[in-house]
Amino acid sequence: MSVFRNDLFLGRAALITGGGTGIGRGIAGALARYGANVAIVSRKLENLVGAAESIAAATGRRCLPMVADVRQPEAVDSAVNRAIQELGRLDFVVNNAAGNFVCPSAELSPNGFGTVLDIDAKGTWNMSRAAYRAWLKDHGGQILNISATLHYGGTPGQVHVAAAKAAVDALTRTLAVEWGPQGIRVNAIAHGPIGQTEGARRLFPGAAADQLRAASPIRRLGTIDDIVNLAVFVLSDAGSNLNGAILVSDGGLCLTGRLGLGVEVGPTI
Ligand code: COA
Repeated sequence: MSVFRNDLFLGRAALITGGGTGIGRGIAGALARYGANVAIVSRKLENLVGAAESIAAATGRRCLPMVADVRQPEAVDSAVNRAIQELGRLDFVVNNAAGNFVCPSAELSPNGFGTVLDIDAKGTWNMSRAAYRAWLKDHGGQILNISATLHYGGTPGQVHVAAAKAAVDALTRTLAVEWGPQGIRVNAIAHGPIGQTEGARRLFPGAAADQLRAASPIRRLGTIDDIVNLAVFVLSDAGSNLNGAILVSDGGLCLTGRLGLGVEVGPTI
C-alpha cells in the first residue's frame, strides 16, 4: 500500500531524462502511477519503448518515449517542445540522465572527463534552460536533479563524476534562487550507492557492494524505491517549502567518511 494519494499528480505532466532505465524509469512509473502523463527521454530508443509501453499499460497514463541526447541543445529543445505539445503542459522536469565509469585520474583522457561533464552538468543545464524558456517561466513548475554523494569526500576513480555532480549541485542552488520568484522550485536528490542500477554494477562490482553495505550505518544499500519515494515527496505539495535543497538519501553512509571506492586496490572502506 502506498503512503501517497492515488491522484497526487492527476492532470500534471512530467519529463524524465534517462527515464527508460533504473532510477529514471522508477520515477517515471511512480509519477504516472499517481496520475501524471510522462515523457521519458534517452539516447537509446531500445531503452525507451519497452519502458513506455509497460508504464502506460500499468498506469493508464500516457508515457511518451523520446530520443534525445541531453548533450545536444537542439535535441533537448525539440524534446521539451514535443512533450508540451503532446501532453499539453510541463509541470516537472527530472534531470536524471548521467554517465559514469571508474577510471584512475592519471589515466582519464580530456574527452573522458569532458564527456561526463557534458552529460551530467551541461545536460542538466540544457534541459533546465529549455524547460524554463518553453514553459516554466510562464507557468511555474519544478526541476528535480538527481545528484550523488561521492563528491562529499574524495572518491578515487571518480574525478570526472565528482566534478559533474558538484556542478549539478551548484546549478540546483543557483536556479532555485534565480527562478524561485517565478514559482519554480529547483531541488536535488543526492543518492549514495543504489544496489540495482547500471551505475552500481560499474562502480561496486562483487565484494565491493558487500563492503559498502557493511559500512553503511543502516547496513544496506539504497534501493530505486528509496529514491522514487523521495522524488514523489519533493514533487508533491508536501515539499512545497523545499527550494535549492539537496536531499541526501544514503542511509548515513557519507557521514561515516567511508565513501571511497578503490579503483585498482578494491574498496577503501
Ligand atoms: N575508462 C576510461 N575512459 C573511458 C571509459 C572508461 N571505462 N569509458 C569511456 N571513456 C572515455 C573514452 O575513451 C572517450 O575518451 P577518448 O576519446 O579520449 O578515448 C570518452 O570517455 C568518451 O567515450 P565514448 O564511449 O565515446 O562516449 P559515449 O558518449 O558513447 O558514452 C559514457 C558515454 C562514457 C558515459 C558511457 O560510459 C555511457 O554511455 N554510459 C551509459 C550510461 C551510464 O554511465 N550509466 C550509469 C549512470 S550512473
